[in-house]
Amino acid sequence: MAQVEVTFQPDGKRTRVEEGSTLLEAVKLAGVDLTTICGGKGKCCKCKVVIEEQKGNVSPLSDIEKKLLTDDLISAGYRLACFTAVYGPVTVRIPDESRTGKQRLQVEGIDTPVILDPAVSKCFLKMPAPTMDDITSDVDRVLGALEAQHGLKNLKFTYSVLPTLPILLRESNWEVTAAVWNNERIITIEKGRTLDRNFGYAVDIGTTKLAGYLLDLNTGKVVAAESLMNPQIPFGEDVITRISHAGKGLKEQNELQQVIVASLNKILERLLDKTDVKPEEVYEMVAVGNTAMHHLFLNLCPTYMGLAPYPPVVKNGINVEAKDIGMKINPNGNVLALPVIAGFVGADSVSDVLATEIYKKDELTLTIDVGTNTEIIMGNKKWMVGCSCASGPAFEGAHISNGMRAATGAIEKVKIDPVTLDVTYKTIDNAKACGICGSAIVDIPAELLKAGAIGVSGMFNKALNTPRLRHGGDMWEFVIAWKDETASGKDIVVTQKDLGEIQLAKAAIYAGVAALLEEAKITNADIKKVLIAGAFGFYIDPASARTIGMYPEIPISKVSVVGNSAGTGARMALVSREARQTCEQISRDVKYIELAKNPRFQSVYMNAYFLPNAELSKWPETCELLKMLGRYPELPPPIM
Ligand code: FES
Repeated sequence: MAQVEVTFQPDGKRTRVEEGSTLLEAVKLAGVDLTTICGGKGKCCKCKVVIEEQKGNVSPLSDIEKKLLTDDLISAGYRLACFTAVYGPVTVRIPDESRTGKQRLQVEGIDTPVILDPAVSKCFLKMPAPTMDDITSDVDRVLGALEAQHGLKNLKFTYSVLPTLPILLRESNWEVTAAVWNNERIITIEKGRTLDRNFGYAVDIGTTKLAGYLLDLNTGKVVAAESLMNPQIPFGEDVITRISHAGKGLKEQNELQQVIVASLNKILERLLDKTDVKPEEVYEMVAVGNTAMHHLFLNLCPTYMGLAPYPPVVKNGINVEAKDIGMKINPNGNVLALPVIAGFVGADSVSDVLATEIYKKDELTLTIDVGTNTEIIMGNKKWMVGCSCASGPAFEGAHISNGMRAATGAIEKVKIDPVTLDVTYKTIDNAKACGICGSAIVDIPAELLKAGAIGVSGMFNKALNTPRLRHGGDMWEFVIAWKDETASGKDIVVTQKDLGEIQLAKAAIYAGVAALLEEAKITNADIKKVLIAGAFGFYIDPASARTIGMYPEIPISKVSVVGNSAGTGARMALVSREARQTCEQISRDVKYIELAKNPRFQSVYMNAYFLPNAELSKWPETCELLKMLGRYPELPPPIM
């Protein structure tokens, strides 16, 4: 088939694609920065591009584009990259608002101390050379030295160390350093004394984001951290869609594994670029993620964990050699995927529990790891229960008309004056506003509610006299930033539909929490601590989250944000073998609660759609606050 050239401006990047390919395919080939949250399904409307030259060489406007793009955008030449096919050379501009921009790393999390005891130890060996009286084999000489000089017995060599071992021993004059994994296996033998070079890689594989940390295993300290978007998003935003894609066949399952491994390798490459560490000096990797991400990373068939009764392929932690799954740390290095709890409560939850230490506490603690898939664990040292809920990607900026990821220019904090309805906001890096990211997506409904701009149903109060509230053509919307304040020169708004998306997301989380309370037969008053975790959890205002009813009304003094605690747990397991044992115990101890089995789940979920909740009697402080502000929440009849 004929090839056509696509040029991207302002980058000036060019690529050639087969005639009939979409612009999104060209974007991927050219490696151009473009937001594609829904992965080309025509749902997110984030992949907007402008056809600048040779406009006749692209497919006519599709029905989906006509629906998603406004008339103004269409007349300005805007198209959706995923729905525009190219039939001849074309020049395309990527507007600022469609760029992912410099992402905030979102790798921060609590620091929980742990006793340093990594699985990889390095041992310096000094050996005599063979003589006519000592013809011990090279392997036995090394094994003997490890036993005599370091007390390590019954070790095994990784086969691929053997081919070059004789040369290496002689070139190094019989002075070498062995890297040993778990007192079991020799990963590598290096020339001379390299004891100070011992590194590990910890990763948190989120449904939407990946976070990676390079650690010095001699000190347990983080040397560098990086993050990237999960490259599986084009295959589906949520875990169910990805499980069903992988279920089409081995080719698709491999494809999902390969893209995730490629991105984890890319993060590693960036970490190594920031430091003087070489890939072969990274001897171990620890990975956490929800069970679907865990299975897809390990290339385990996820089909049956996605079908009732949702059994995972494996529950215990798994150790594999890096070369077996394509990770570009030392090829003989170990990759440990931490244990999972159940089909929908994964190694990230185990990691959350490890990092927050709720398994040690007397006080009853509720941990909510907010993400596209939200995991909730509640308990203390006597018992723990956990569940997971599909909260969707609204808090990641998807399905929100002006939503974006936490990158430069994203509005991250919003305040609305309850009297004047004036909006003040803060953007990341104090740049011109480009869109709204997760923390502000939580603030906005809370602030609108307190300002009386919306009622408990989330519907706009159309009687308000402010230019910020208007009918935007399709639906009512509220202006957060006026066009002269924004990078695109267009108003940034929150629409009635956006509010509905946020309400659905927070309702799913609340209903999950309520199901755990019911299972444990306890009330809000029994909860002594709430920990809000998640990649963007560091930036959430707990008061806003409580006002919208994301979690039960618990005194704010008992609520803390802990950031990416799954990443913290992965780092702890990387540097401590005891922490790994604890993870295995946590995986056995947390009782998984299947929400679908709870007959009240639907009604609780529907009540939780309201702001803060249809059962207002359970929200006395919020009602009091609203009354103080002159708002008298209408009481919708709760669904029982
Ligand atoms: S609409 Fe094109 S990537 Fe979402």
